[in-house]
Amino acid sequence: MSAENAYDEVLYESHPFAQTHPNRLATIGQLFGMQPAPLAKCRVLELGCSSGGNIIPLAERFPQSEFVGIDASSRQVAIGQKTVQALNLPNLQLLHEDILKFSPQQGKFDYIIAHGVFSWVPPNVQDAILHICHDHLTPNGIAYISYNTNPGWRLRGMIRDIMTYRARKISNPAEKLRESRALLDFLAESVSTKGNAYGILLADEVNHIRPKQDWYLIHEYLEEVNEPEYFHQFMDRAHLHNLQYLGEADYSTMLASNFPPEVEAMLKKLGTDIIETEQYMDMVRNRLFRQTLLCQSAVTLDRTIPPERIFNMHVASSSEPEGGVQVDPRSWDPVTFKRPGSTLSTKEPLLKAAMLELRAAWPRAIPFMELLSNARGRLHPGTQVIDAERAANDAKNLARPLLRCYATTHVDLHAEPPQVAYLIPEQPAISRLARFQASQPGAVTNLMHEVVQLGDFERQVAKLLDGSRDRAAVIETLTDLVAKKTLVVHEKGKPVADLDQVRVILGKVLEDALPSLARKNLLLPQ
Ligand SMILES: C[S@@+](CC[C@H](N)C(=O)[O-])C[C@H]1O[C@@H](n2cnc3c(N)ncnc32)[C@H](O)[C@@H]1O
Repeated sequence: MSAENAYDEVLYESHPFAQTHPNRLATIGQLFGMQPAPLAKCRVLELGCSSGGNIIPLAERFPQSEFVGIDASSRQVAIGQKTVQALNLPNLQLLHEDILKFSPQQGKFDYIIAHGVFSWVPPNVQDAILHICHDHLTPNGIAYISYNTNPGWRLRGMIRDIMTYRARKISNPAEKLRESRALLDFLAESVSTKGNAYGILLADEVNHIRPKQDWYLIHEYLEEVNEPEYFHQFMDRAHLHNLQYLGEADYSTMLASNFPPEVEAMLKKLGTDIIETEQYMDMVRNRLFRQTLLCQSAVTLDRTIPPERIFNMHVASSSEPEGGVQVDPRSWDPVTFKRPGSTLSTKEPLLKAAMLELRAAWPRAIPFMELLSNARGRLHPGTQVIDAERAANDAKNLARPLLRCYATTHVDLHAEPPQVAYLIPEQPAISRLARFQASQPGAVTNLMHEVVQLGDFERQVAKLLDGSRDRAAVIETLTDLVAKKTLVVHEKGKPVADLDQVRVILGKVLEDALPSLARKNLLLPQ
Protein backbone atom coordinates (compact mmCIF):
# COMPACT_ATOMS: atom_id res chain seq x y z
CA MET A 1 0.00 0.00 0.00
CA SER A 2 1.34 3.45 -0.83
CA ALA A 3 2.08 5.88 2.00
CA GLU A 4 -0.77 8.07 0.81
CA ASN A 5 -3.37 5.32 1.01
CA ALA A 6 -2.11 3.95 4.30
CA TYR A 7 -2.36 7.31 6.08
CA ASP A 8 -5.64 8.19 4.36
CA GLU A 9 -7.13 4.92 5.54
CA VAL A 10 -5.96 5.08 9.16
CA LEU A 11 -5.24 8.69 10.15
CA TYR A 12 -2.12 9.42 12.20
CA GLU A 13 -2.94 11.65 15.15
CA SER A 14 -1.19 14.93 14.60
CA HIS A 15 0.51 16.62 17.58
CA PRO A 16 3.13 19.21 18.43
CA PHE A 17 6.58 17.81 19.31
CA ALA A 18 8.47 20.11 21.68
CA GLN A 19 11.78 18.59 20.55
CA THR A 20 11.23 19.88 16.99
CA HIS A 21 10.57 23.49 18.05
CA PRO A 22 12.95 25.84 16.21
CA ASN A 23 13.85 27.33 19.62
CA ARG A 24 15.27 23.93 20.64
CA LEU A 25 17.14 23.60 17.33
CA ALA A 26 18.49 27.15 17.67
CA THR A 27 19.66 26.45 21.25
CA ILE A 28 21.68 23.39 20.19
CA GLY A 29 23.00 25.27 17.14
CA GLN A 30 24.15 28.18 19.31
CA LEU A 31 25.86 25.86 21.79
CA PHE A 32 27.98 24.49 18.96
CA GLY A 33 28.86 27.94 17.64
CA MET A 34 26.18 28.51 14.96
CA GLN A 35 24.15 31.69 14.55
CA PRO A 36 20.68 30.30 13.82
CA ALA A 37 17.93 32.55 12.46
CA PRO A 38 15.74 34.42 14.99
CA LEU A 39 12.35 32.78 15.49
CA ALA A 40 10.48 36.02 14.87
CA LYS A 41 11.81 36.20 11.29
CA CYS A 42 12.58 32.78 9.87
CA ARG A 43 11.34 30.23 7.34
CA VAL A 44 10.35 26.73 8.47
CA LEU A 45 9.57 23.65 6.32
CA GLU A 46 7.98 20.46 7.67
CA LEU A 47 8.09 17.29 5.55
CA GLY A 48 5.36 14.69 6.25
CA CYS A 49 3.50 17.17 8.47
CA SER A 50 0.28 15.10 8.61
CA SER A 51 -2.64 17.37 9.67
CA GLY A 52 -0.31 20.15 10.80
CA GLY A 53 -0.41 19.42 14.54
CA ASN A 54 3.26 20.44 14.78
CA ILE A 55 3.51 23.29 12.26
CA ILE A 56 0.18 25.10 12.84
CA PRO A 57 1.01 26.18 16.44
CA LEU A 58 4.42 27.44 15.25
CA ALA A 59 2.83 29.48 12.47
CA GLU A 60 0.37 31.02 14.92
CA ARG A 61 3.12 31.84 17.43
CA PHE A 62 5.44 33.56 14.93
CA PRO A 63 3.23 35.56 12.54
CA GLN A 64 6.16 37.35 10.86
CA SER A 65 7.86 34.04 9.97
CA GLU A 66 6.92 31.80 7.03
CA PHE A 67 5.90 28.16 7.28
CA VAL A 68 5.40 25.41 4.68
CA GLY A 69 4.15 21.92 5.54
CA ILE A 70 3.73 19.12 3.01
CA ASP A 71 2.18 15.66 3.27
CA ALA A 72 1.15 12.98 0.78
CA SER A 73 -2.09 12.12 2.57
CA SER A 74 -4.86 14.30 1.12
CA ARG A 75 -7.24 13.45 3.97
CA GLN A 76 -4.79 14.48 6.66
CA VAL A 77 -3.90 17.71 4.86
CA ALA A 78 -7.63 18.53 4.39
CA ILE A 79 -8.16 18.20 8.15
CA GLY A 80 -5.22 20.52 8.81
CA GLN A 81 -6.44 23.05 6.24
CA LYS A 82 -9.74 23.41 8.12
CA THR A 83 -7.78 24.52 11.19
CA VAL A 84 -5.60 26.85 9.09
CA GLN A 85 -8.74 28.46 7.65
CA ALA A 86 -10.42 28.76 11.05
CA LEU A 87 -7.33 30.53 12.44
CA ASN A 88 -6.63 32.56 9.27
CA LEU A 89 -2.89 31.98 9.05
CA PRO A 90 -1.58 33.71 5.91
CA ASN A 91 2.02 32.79 6.86
CA LEU A 92 1.38 29.02 6.53
CA GLN A 93 1.04 26.89 3.38
CA LEU A 94 -0.21 23.39 4.21
CA LEU A 95 0.11 21.44 0.98
CA HIS A 96 -0.96 18.04 -0.29
CA GLU A 97 2.36 17.26 -1.95
CA ASP A 98 4.77 14.37 -2.29
CA ILE A 99 8.29 14.78 -0.90
CA LEU A 100 9.51 13.38 -4.24
CA LYS A 101 7.90 16.31 -6.06
CA PHE A 102 8.96 19.11 -3.71
CA SER A 103 9.11 22.32 -5.69
CA PRO A 104 12.52 24.03 -5.99
CA GLN A 105 10.50 27.32 -6.12
CA GLN A 106 9.90 27.03 -2.39
CA GLY A 107 13.36 28.53 -1.78
CA LYS A 108 15.53 28.26 1.34
CA PHE A 109 14.50 27.51 4.91
CA ASP A 110 16.19 28.24 8.25
CA TYR A 111 14.68 25.15 9.86
CA ILE A 112 13.54 21.90 8.21
CA ILE A 113 11.64 19.31 10.26
CA ALA A 114 10.93 15.68 9.34
CA HIS A 115 9.50 13.98 12.43
CA GLY A 116 8.42 10.35 12.19
CA VAL A 117 8.91 10.14 8.44
CA PHE A 118 12.43 8.97 7.51
CA SER A 119 12.28 5.31 8.63
CA TRP A 120 8.76 4.89 7.33
CA VAL A 121 9.38 5.79 3.67
CA PRO A 122 11.29 3.89 0.94
CA PRO A 123 15.00 4.67 0.27
CA ASN A 124 14.27 7.00 -2.68
CA VAL A 125 12.05 9.19 -0.47
CA GLN A 126 14.69 9.09 2.28
CA ASP A 127 17.25 10.35 -0.23
CA ALA A 128 14.81 13.05 -1.33
CA ILE A 129 14.49 14.19 2.32
CA LEU A 130 18.29 14.50 2.63
CA HIS A 131 18.47 16.17 -0.76
CA ILE A 132 15.84 18.76 0.28
CA CYS A 133 17.70 19.33 3.56
CA HIS A 134 20.86 20.18 1.66
CA ASP A 135 19.31 22.11 -1.24
CA HIS A 136 16.79 24.07 0.79
CA LEU A 137 18.65 24.82 4.03
CA THR A 138 20.10 28.32 4.39
CA PRO A 139 23.87 28.38 5.12
CA ASN A 140 23.09 28.65 8.86
CA GLY A 141 20.02 26.43 8.70
CA ILE A 142 19.29 23.40 10.90
CA ALA A 143 17.44 20.23 9.86
CA TYR A 144 15.73 17.84 12.29
CA ILE A 145 15.23 14.23 11.19
CA SER A 146 13.93 11.53 13.51
CA TYR A 147 14.31 7.83 12.70
CA ASN A 148 14.32 4.36 14.23
CA THR A 149 17.78 3.05 15.05
CA ASN A 150 19.66 -0.19 15.44
CA PRO A 151 20.71 -2.00 17.52
CA GLY A 152 17.47 -1.31 19.45
CA TRP A 153 15.22 -2.09 16.48
CA ARG A 154 17.03 -5.35 15.68
CA LEU A 155 15.14 -6.79 18.66
CA ARG A 156 11.93 -4.78 18.24
CA GLY A 157 11.98 -5.60 14.53
CA MET A 158 11.45 -9.25 15.43
CA ILE A 159 8.11 -8.28 17.02
CA ARG A 160 7.24 -6.37 13.86
CA ASP A 161 8.13 -9.47 11.77
CA ILE A 162 5.82 -11.63 13.90
CA MET A 163 2.98 -9.11 13.60
CA THR A 164 3.34 -8.50 9.85
CA TYR A 165 3.45 -12.26 9.20
CA ARG A 166 0.17 -12.74 11.06
CA ALA A 167 -1.41 -9.75 9.27
CA ARG A 168 -0.16 -10.58 5.76
CA LYS A 169 -3.41 -12.10 4.43
CA ILE A 170 -5.76 -9.63 6.13
CA SER A 171 -6.77 -6.37 4.44
CA ASN A 172 -8.74 -4.56 7.15
CA PRO A 173 -6.26 -2.57 9.33
CA ALA A 174 -8.27 -2.99 12.56
CA GLU A 175 -8.46 -6.76 12.04
CA LYS A 176 -4.76 -6.93 11.15
CA LEU A 177 -3.97 -5.29 14.47
CA ARG A 178 -6.41 -7.39 16.50
CA GLU A 179 -5.04 -10.66 15.11
CA SER A 180 -1.38 -9.70 15.45
CA ARG A 181 -1.89 -8.39 19.01
CA ALA A 182 -3.61 -11.70 19.87
CA LEU A 183 -0.68 -13.68 18.43
CA LEU A 184 1.79 -11.70 20.54
CA ASP A 185 -0.29 -12.26 23.69
CA PHE A 186 -0.39 -15.98 22.92
CA LEU A 187 3.39 -16.11 22.42
CA ALA A 188 4.10 -14.09 25.58
CA GLU A 189 1.94 -16.50 27.60
CA SER A 190 3.33 -19.67 25.98
CA VAL A 191 7.06 -18.92 25.99
CA SER A 192 8.81 -19.32 29.34
CA THR A 193 10.76 -16.34 30.68
CA LYS A 194 12.90 -18.55 32.94
CA GLY A 195 16.50 -18.29 31.74
CA ASN A 196 15.08 -17.67 28.26
CA ALA A 197 16.12 -14.40 26.60
CA TYR A 198 13.46 -14.82 23.89
CA GLY A 199 10.68 -15.17 26.48
CA ILE A 200 11.91 -12.12 28.44
CA LEU A 201 12.05 -10.05 25.25
CA LEU A 202 8.53 -11.10 24.23
CA ALA A 203 7.12 -10.27 27.66
CA ASP A 204 8.84 -6.84 27.65
CA GLU A 205 7.66 -5.97 24.16
CA VAL A 206 4.08 -7.08 24.82
CA ASN A 207 4.08 -4.78 27.89
CA HIS A 208 5.43 -1.98 25.71
CA ILE A 209 2.78 -2.50 23.03
CA ARG A 210 -0.28 -3.07 25.24
CA PRO A 211 -1.03 0.57 26.20
CA LYS A 212 -0.27 1.99 22.73
CA GLN A 213 -3.10 3.33 20.57
CA ASP A 214 -4.24 1.47 17.46
CA TRP A 215 -3.36 4.21 14.92
CA TYR A 216 0.21 4.28 16.26
CA LEU A 217 0.70 0.50 16.20
CA ILE A 218 -0.77 0.15 12.71
CA HIS A 219 1.76 2.62 11.30
CA GLU A 220 4.74 1.66 13.47
CA TYR A 221 4.44 -2.15 13.35
CA LEU A 222 2.27 -3.05 10.38
CA GLU A 223 3.30 -0.42 7.83
CA GLU A 224 4.93 -1.78 4.67
CA VAL A 225 8.09 0.25 5.32
CA ASN A 226 9.86 0.67 8.65
CA GLU A 227 13.58 0.53 7.97
CA PRO A 228 15.73 1.31 11.04
CA GLU A 229 19.40 2.12 10.49
CA TYR A 230 22.55 2.30 12.56
CA PHE A 231 23.49 5.90 13.29
CA HIS A 232 26.73 5.58 11.32
CA GLN A 233 24.78 4.40 8.27
CA PHE A 234 22.41 7.35 8.54
CA MET A 235 25.36 9.73 8.81
CA ASP A 236 27.14 8.13 5.80
CA ARG A 237 24.06 8.99 3.75
CA ALA A 238 23.83 12.51 5.20
CA HIS A 239 27.53 13.09 4.32
CA LEU A 240 26.81 12.08 0.71
CA HIS A 241 24.36 15.00 0.63
CA ASN A 242 26.95 17.40 2.05
CA LEU A 243 25.24 17.56 5.42
CA GLN A 244 27.11 17.21 8.71
CA TYR A 245 26.16 16.11 12.22
CA LEU A 246 25.21 18.99 14.48
CA GLY A 247 23.79 17.04 17.43
CA GLU A 248 20.63 15.55 18.92
CA ALA A 249 17.46 17.43 19.82
CA ASP A 250 17.83 15.62 23.16
CA TYR A 251 21.21 17.08 24.11
CA SER A 252 21.54 14.94 27.26
CA THR A 253 22.02 11.82 25.13
CA MET A 254 25.16 13.31 23.53
CA LEU A 255 27.25 13.27 26.69
CA ALA A 256 29.36 10.25 27.53
CA SER A 257 29.72 11.83 30.99
CA ASN A 258 26.10 10.84 31.70
CA PHE A 259 27.28 7.20 31.83
CA PRO A 260 29.11 5.70 34.85
CA PRO A 261 32.83 6.79 34.83
CA GLU A 262 34.20 3.43 33.64
CA VAL A 263 31.76 3.36 30.69
CA GLU A 264 32.61 7.00 29.87
CA ALA A 265 36.35 6.18 29.88
CA MET A 266 35.86 3.21 27.54
CA LEU A 267 33.59 5.20 25.20
CA LYS A 268 36.26 7.90 24.95
CA LYS A 269 38.85 5.26 24.04
CA LEU A 270 36.63 3.57 21.47
CA GLY A 271 35.37 6.64 19.60
CA THR A 272 37.88 8.47 17.42
CA ASP A 273 35.32 11.09 16.34
CA ILE A 274 31.83 12.20 17.34
CA ILE A 275 30.09 9.82 14.91
CA GLU A 276 31.91 6.79 16.34
CA THR A 277 31.36 7.89 19.93
CA GLU A 278 27.64 8.39 19.28
CA GLN A 279 27.50 4.97 17.59
CA TYR A 280 29.18 3.22 20.53
CA MET A 281 26.81 5.02 22.92
CA ASP A 282 23.87 3.61 20.90
CA MET A 283 25.37 0.15 21.40
CA VAL A 284 25.58 0.66 25.17
CA ARG A 285 22.01 1.97 25.27
CA ASN A 286 20.52 -0.43 22.71
CA ARG A 287 19.08 2.75 21.22
CA LEU A 288 15.76 2.62 19.34
CA PHE A 289 15.19 6.18 18.15
CA ARG A 290 17.12 9.32 17.26
CA GLN A 291 16.22 12.93 16.66
CA THR A 292 19.27 14.06 14.76
CA LEU A 293 20.09 17.64 13.83
CA LEU A 294 22.05 18.27 10.64
CA CYS A 295 23.56 21.38 9.10
CA GLN A 296 25.47 22.22 5.94
CA SER A 297 28.98 20.66 5.73
CA ALA A 298 30.42 24.14 5.14
CA VAL A 299 29.46 25.30 8.67
CA THR A 300 32.39 25.43 11.11
CA LEU A 301 31.20 23.88 14.36
CA ASP A 302 33.01 24.39 17.67
CA ARG A 303 32.20 21.61 20.09
CA THR A 304 34.26 22.97 23.00
CA ILE A 305 31.24 25.03 24.20
CA PRO A 306 32.95 27.88 26.08
CA PRO A 307 30.81 29.28 28.95
CA GLU A 308 30.19 32.53 27.01
CA ARG A 309 27.88 30.57 24.66
CA ILE A 310 25.05 30.77 27.20
CA PHE A 311 25.51 34.41 28.23
CA ASN A 312 22.66 35.42 25.86
CA MET A 313 20.45 32.45 26.65
CA HIS A 314 17.51 32.06 29.05
CA VAL A 315 17.59 29.57 31.92
CA ALA A 316 14.76 27.74 33.72
CA SER A 317 14.55 24.95 36.28
CA SER A 318 11.91 23.47 38.58
CA SER A 319 14.62 21.92 40.75
CA GLU A 320 13.77 21.82 44.51
CA PRO A 321 16.41 22.12 47.24
CA GLU A 322 16.29 19.38 49.86
CA GLY A 323 15.52 21.13 53.11
CA GLY A 324 13.26 23.73 51.48
CA VAL A 325 13.80 27.12 49.90
CA GLN A 326 15.11 28.54 53.21
CA VAL A 327 18.53 26.93 52.68
CA ASP A 328 21.31 29.51 53.04
CA PRO A 329 23.36 29.58 49.83
CA ARG A 330 26.13 31.63 51.52
CA SER A 331 27.58 28.73 53.49
CA TRP A 332 29.86 26.13 51.88
CA ASP A 333 27.61 23.30 53.12
CA PRO A 334 26.51 20.96 50.34
CA VAL A 335 22.87 21.19 49.21
CA THR A 336 21.08 18.63 47.07
CA PHE A 337 18.61 19.89 44.46
CA LYS A 338 16.14 17.50 42.89
CA ARG A 339 14.21 17.59 39.66
CA PRO A 340 12.34 14.56 38.28
CA GLY A 341 15.04 12.44 36.62
CA SER A 342 18.07 14.36 37.89
CA THR A 343 19.86 15.33 41.12
CA LEU A 344 22.45 18.03 41.70
CA SER A 345 24.64 18.25 44.82
CA THR A 346 26.77 21.34 45.20
CA LYS A 347 28.64 23.38 47.81
CA GLU A 348 29.21 26.28 45.40
CA PRO A 349 27.39 29.38 46.82
CA LEU A 350 26.85 31.06 43.44
CA LEU A 351 25.32 27.94 41.89
CA LYS A 352 23.15 27.33 44.97
CA ALA A 353 21.93 30.95 44.86
CA ALA A 354 21.17 30.62 41.13
CA MET A 355 19.22 27.38 41.65
CA LEU A 356 17.15 29.08 44.38
CA GLU A 357 16.48 31.98 41.98
CA LEU A 358 15.38 29.58 39.26
CA ARG A 359 13.10 27.77 41.71
CA ALA A 360 11.50 31.07 42.74
CA ALA A 361 10.99 32.11 39.10
CA TRP A 362 9.79 28.72 37.78
CA PRO A 363 8.28 28.24 35.23
CA ARG A 364 9.67 31.57 33.92
CA ALA A 365 12.99 31.37 32.06
CA ILE A 366 15.42 34.07 33.24
CA PRO A 367 18.04 35.73 30.99
CA PHE A 368 21.42 34.37 32.09
CA MET A 369 22.81 37.80 33.02
CA GLU A 370 19.71 38.59 35.11
CA LEU A 371 20.08 35.22 36.84
CA LEU A 372 23.70 36.04 37.62
CA SER A 373 22.91 39.42 39.17
CA ASN A 374 19.95 38.02 41.15
CA ALA A 375 22.13 35.19 42.46
CA ARG A 376 24.84 37.69 43.42
CA GLY A 377 22.16 39.77 45.17
CA ARG A 378 21.15 36.73 47.24
CA LEU A 379 24.76 36.16 48.30
CA HIS A 380 25.57 39.83 48.95
CA PRO A 381 22.37 41.71 49.81
CA GLY A 382 24.34 44.88 50.72
CA THR A 383 26.94 46.89 48.83
CA GLN A 384 29.79 44.99 47.21
CA VAL A 385 32.84 46.47 45.51
CA ILE A 386 34.78 43.91 43.48
CA ASP A 387 37.26 44.11 40.62
CA ALA A 388 35.95 43.76 37.09
CA GLU A 389 37.94 40.59 36.41
CA ARG A 390 36.30 38.80 39.32
CA ALA A 391 32.87 39.97 38.16
CA ALA A 392 33.60 38.56 34.67
CA ASN A 393 34.80 35.31 36.21
CA ASP A 394 31.54 34.98 38.16
CA ALA A 395 29.67 34.78 34.85
CA LYS A 396 31.92 31.97 33.62
CA ASN A 397 31.84 30.23 37.02
CA LEU A 398 28.06 30.13 36.88
CA ALA A 399 27.78 29.28 33.17
CA ARG A 400 30.06 26.21 33.41
CA PRO A 401 27.99 24.27 35.99
CA LEU A 402 24.76 25.39 34.31
CA LEU A 403 26.01 23.84 31.08
CA ARG A 404 26.64 20.60 32.98
CA CYS A 405 23.14 20.88 34.47
CA TYR A 406 21.69 21.30 30.97
CA ALA A 407 23.45 18.09 29.96
CA THR A 408 21.82 16.21 32.84
CA THR A 409 18.41 17.90 32.18
CA HIS A 410 18.61 19.67 35.54
CA VAL A 411 18.10 23.05 33.89
CA ASP A 412 16.56 24.09 30.58
CA LEU A 413 18.35 26.50 28.25
CA HIS A 414 16.50 28.50 25.61
CA ALA A 415 18.00 30.56 22.81
CA GLU A 416 14.87 32.72 23.07
CA PRO A 417 12.51 33.06 26.05
CA PRO A 418 9.27 31.07 25.81
CA GLN A 419 6.33 33.53 25.56
CA VAL A 420 4.06 32.42 28.40
CA ALA A 421 2.22 34.38 31.14
CA TYR A 422 3.17 33.17 34.59
CA LEU A 423 0.99 35.64 36.54
CA ILE A 424 -2.66 35.56 35.61
CA PRO A 425 -3.41 38.71 33.59
CA GLU A 426 -6.42 40.93 34.39
CA GLN A 427 -8.07 39.77 31.14
CA PRO A 428 -6.51 36.37 30.47
CA ALA A 429 -6.11 35.06 26.92
CA ILE A 430 -5.05 31.73 25.45
CA SER A 431 -3.94 31.18 21.86
CA ARG A 432 -6.58 31.11 19.11
CA LEU A 433 -5.47 27.56 18.31
CA ALA A 434 -5.96 26.38 21.91
CA ARG A 435 -9.40 28.05 21.97
CA PHE A 436 -10.30 26.35 18.67
CA GLN A 437 -9.08 23.00 20.02
CA ALA A 438 -10.95 23.53 23.32
CA SER A 439 -14.19 23.84 21.34
CA GLN A 440 -13.72 20.23 20.14
CA PRO A 441 -13.09 17.01 22.05
CA GLY A 442 -9.45 16.10 22.68
CA ALA A 443 -6.24 17.69 23.88
CA VAL A 444 -4.98 21.23 23.25
CA THR A 445 -1.55 22.61 22.38
CA ASN A 446 0.13 24.84 24.96
CA LEU A 447 2.67 27.64 24.50
CA MET A 448 5.59 25.28 25.21
CA HIS A 449 4.56 23.28 22.12
CA GLU A 450 3.23 20.41 24.23
CA VAL A 451 -0.03 18.46 24.33
CA VAL A 452 -2.12 19.18 27.43
CA GLN A 453 -5.45 17.75 28.58
CA LEU A 454 -8.23 19.97 29.92
CA GLY A 455 -10.79 19.18 32.60
CA ASP A 456 -14.48 19.80 31.71
CA PHE A 457 -14.67 23.18 33.46
CA GLU A 458 -11.23 24.28 32.22
CA ARG A 459 -12.46 23.61 28.69
CA GLN A 460 -15.52 25.85 29.19
CA VAL A 461 -13.31 28.61 30.58
CA ALA A 462 -10.61 28.17 27.91
CA LYS A 463 -13.18 28.76 25.14
CA LEU A 464 -13.92 32.21 26.61
CA LEU A 465 -10.35 33.41 27.18
CA ASP A 466 -9.86 35.71 24.19
CA GLY A 467 -8.43 38.58 26.25
CA SER A 468 -11.68 40.56 26.23
CA ARG A 469 -13.04 39.31 29.58
CA ASP A 470 -11.90 39.79 33.16
CA ARG A 471 -12.88 37.23 35.83
CA ALA A 472 -16.28 38.86 36.46
CA ALA A 473 -17.11 38.80 32.74
CA VAL A 474 -16.06 35.14 32.47
CA ILE A 475 -18.35 34.27 35.39
CA GLU A 476 -21.21 36.28 33.82
CA THR A 477 -20.84 34.55 30.44
CA LEU A 478 -20.76 31.12 32.08
CA THR A 479 -23.81 32.05 34.19
CA ASP A 480 -25.65 33.00 30.97
CA LEU A 481 -24.81 29.57 29.57
CA VAL A 482 -26.30 27.99 32.70
CA ALA A 483 -29.42 30.16 32.28
CA LYS A 484 -29.71 28.96 28.66
CA LYS A 485 -29.24 25.37 29.90
CA THR A 486 -26.11 24.90 27.76
CA LEU A 487 -24.14 24.37 30.97
CA VAL A 488 -25.25 22.65 34.17
CA VAL A 489 -23.79 23.32 37.61
CA HIS A 490 -24.12 20.49 40.12
CA GLU A 491 -23.70 20.79 43.88
CA LYS A 492 -23.51 17.48 45.78
CA GLY A 493 -24.78 15.71 42.67
CA LYS A 494 -27.87 17.95 42.28
CA PRO A 495 -28.34 20.67 39.61
CA VAL A 496 -28.30 24.24 40.92
CA ALA A 497 -31.02 26.45 39.37
CA ASP A 498 -30.61 29.65 41.39
CA LEU A 499 -28.40 31.93 39.25
CA ASP A 500 -26.98 33.90 42.22
CA GLN A 501 -25.85 30.63 43.73
CA VAL A 502 -24.51 29.55 40.32
CA ARG A 503 -22.44 32.77 40.15
CA VAL A 504 -20.89 32.12 43.57
CA ILE A 505 -20.03 28.51 42.68
CA LEU A 506 -18.56 29.50 39.31
CA GLY A 507 -16.47 32.20 41.01
CA LYS A 508 -15.01 29.60 43.36
CA VAL A 509 -14.17 27.05 40.69
CA LEU A 510 -12.69 29.76 38.47
CA GLU A 511 -10.20 30.53 41.27
CA ASP A 512 -8.77 27.03 40.71
CA ALA A 513 -9.23 26.85 36.94
CA LEU A 514 -7.23 29.95 36.01
CA PRO A 515 -4.07 28.99 37.95
CA SER A 516 -4.43 25.48 36.52
CA LEU A 517 -4.52 26.88 32.95
CA ALA A 518 -1.46 29.00 33.82
CA ARG A 519 0.39 25.92 35.16
CA LYS A 520 -0.43 24.16 31.91
CA ASN A 521 1.41 26.99 30.11
CA LEU A 522 -1.67 28.12 28.21
CA LEU A 523 -1.94 31.81 29.16
CA LEU A 524 -0.51 34.36 26.76
CA PRO A 525 1.59 37.21 28.16
CA GLN A 526 -0.11 40.61 27.84
C1 LIG B 1 4.30 8.32 10.69
S1 LIG B 1 3.52 9.70 9.98
C2 LIG B 1 4.23 11.05 10.87
C3 LIG B 1 3.41 12.28 10.84
C4 LIG B 1 3.96 13.43 11.69
N1 LIG B 1 5.17 13.98 11.14
C5 LIG B 1 4.19 12.95 13.09
O1 LIG B 1 5.30 12.65 13.48
O2 LIG B 1 3.18 12.84 13.83
C6 LIG B 1 4.33 9.83 8.42
C7 LIG B 1 3.74 10.92 7.54
O3 LIG B 1 4.53 11.04 6.37
C8 LIG B 1 3.67 11.18 5.26
N2 LIG B 1 4.38 10.70 4.04
C9 LIG B 1 4.78 9.45 3.77
N3 LIG B 1 5.38 9.41 2.55
C10 LIG B 1 5.36 10.67 2.07
C11 LIG B 1 5.80 11.28 0.87
N4 LIG B 1 6.40 10.57 -0.08
N5 LIG B 1 5.60 12.61 0.69
C12 LIG B 1 4.97 13.34 1.66
N6 LIG B 1 4.52 12.81 2.82
C13 LIG B 1 4.70 11.50 3.02
C14 LIG B 1 2.46 10.34 5.60
O4 LIG B 1 1.32 10.71 4.87
C15 LIG B 1 2.33 10.61 7.10
O5 LIG B 1 1.50 11.71 7.37
